[in-house]
Amino acid sequence: MDKISVLLIGGGGREHAMAHALSRSPMLATLYNNSANPGIAEYAHAVALNEKHHADVVAFCAAHDIGLVIIGPEAPLVDGLADSLRTAGVPVFGPSQAAAQLEGSKAFTKALCDEAGIPTAAYGRFADKTAALAYVAHHGTPIVVKANGLAAGKGVTVAMDVAQANAAIEDCFAGAFGAAGAEVVIEAFLDGEEASFFALCDGENVVALTSAQDHKRAFDGDQGPNTGGMGAYSPAPCLTPALQMETMERIILPTVRTMQARGTPYVGVLYAGLMLTQTGVQLIEYNCRFGDPETQVILPRLKSDFLELALQTASGGLKNAAVQWHDTHTLCVVYAAQGYPGTVKKGTVIQDVDVANSFENCKIYHAGTVLNDAEQLVANGGRVLCSVGSGASLARAQYAAYTGIAAINWPEGFYRSDIGWRALT
Ligand code: AMP
Ligand code: GLY
Repeated sequence: MDKISVLLIGGGGREHAMAHALSRSPMLATLYNNSANPGIAEYAHAVALNEKHHADVVAFCAAHDIGLVIIGPEAPLVDGLADSLRTAGVPVFGPSQAAAQLEGSKAFTKALCDEAGIPTAAYGRFADKTAALAYVAHHGTPIVVKANGLAAGKGVTVAMDVAQANAAIEDCFAGAFGAAGAEVVIEAFLDGEEASFFALCDGENVVALTSAQDHKRAFDGDQGPNTGGMGAYSPAPCLTPALQMETMERIILPTVRTMQARGTPYVGVLYAGLMLTQTGVQLIEYNCRFGDPETQVILPRLKSDFLELALQTASGGLKNAAVQWHDTHTLCVVYAAQGYPGTVKKGTVIQDVDVANSFENCKIYHAGTVLNDAEQLVANGGRVLCSVGSGASLARAQYAAYTGIAAINWPEGFYRSDIGWRALT
């Protein structure tokens, strides 16, 4: 088997979990990563590469004989990094700029759903404030107002009354989300349980991965502000095999076929945010990359070689790919800096991560940490650590994850104490 060197773009908990999975592959020669994440540094050579400078990334790949680039976050995908690399002949795990529109523009995805007959909430699309306000007045509440573009997870308002919906519209058109809010999508409120589903696509062939559920609110009981995700677990019990089949047939496959027919094939992982409603599975949104923290619970369950799958995805080779999973459940708890998702203090010292990592069935991924001048591990972001527990049941995975959290000594951090409640009660 030929070994290949890999460049992994991104420096969060998701990329730490990816680096860990790649390190288990017998196909891996050398792993490079463009971050200062001390967790990733255990598996990768840190390189000072700005992902916004495409020519530098392309030159690095040529100089280091990179056989695959894996792009973790959405911003470089929406920015066209995958296109620059493919043009230079470098295989990439991650969609082109045109295909990343599935995450980069809500209006794009809604139009694709119309074209392909994919079940999703009824909607209107507005570049004009007066028309948007009139739509809300006509349809009433609850209703959902969304900035069209990437707004770092903050552009969505689920409005329970008209005043709230109107305020969200005013905010968007007043520039609260910059260019992302220049257009607004307003859609019907979907009632049900939310779950996520992931599939690999090589442009033509699709392989189903698995499901997960995350907790987006900051505080226990799903209260408080929306965050990037405070915890997750996989698989999601509510997404039964029948519902997964429905998701593939009615949502994922029509999307991939439509993208291919348009001449903008989708290559990478397609992450579907779903609502399980009384009338079937509906698409809430697409992401064009793995989830964070969903990746931290998905990849530890993967028995197949992640590098091999990523390479097959990048090179049109998924036709005969088979994905195998360990027979385990995983659950992760995010340890965030106090104040997240608002302003947080950086530089607070974190101790005993090694103690947590020494427990069987527990792994700590670094999301926002750095080593200070005294070589101490310190917080360097909002979401800082992610404790992943695994076990034969979800309850055991939850226990293992919280045992890891309890071992860590970080007075300036906070976490939710009820990750998994929906599936466990
Ligand atoms: P998004 O950024 O599109 O994932 O939206 C963030 C969150 O808003 C989702 O995870 C849902 O909880 C909620 N949401 C978005 N669209 C709808 C909808 N049409 N009906 C109900 N909730 C929604
Ligand atoms: N956890 C949500 C996301 O990655 O978008």
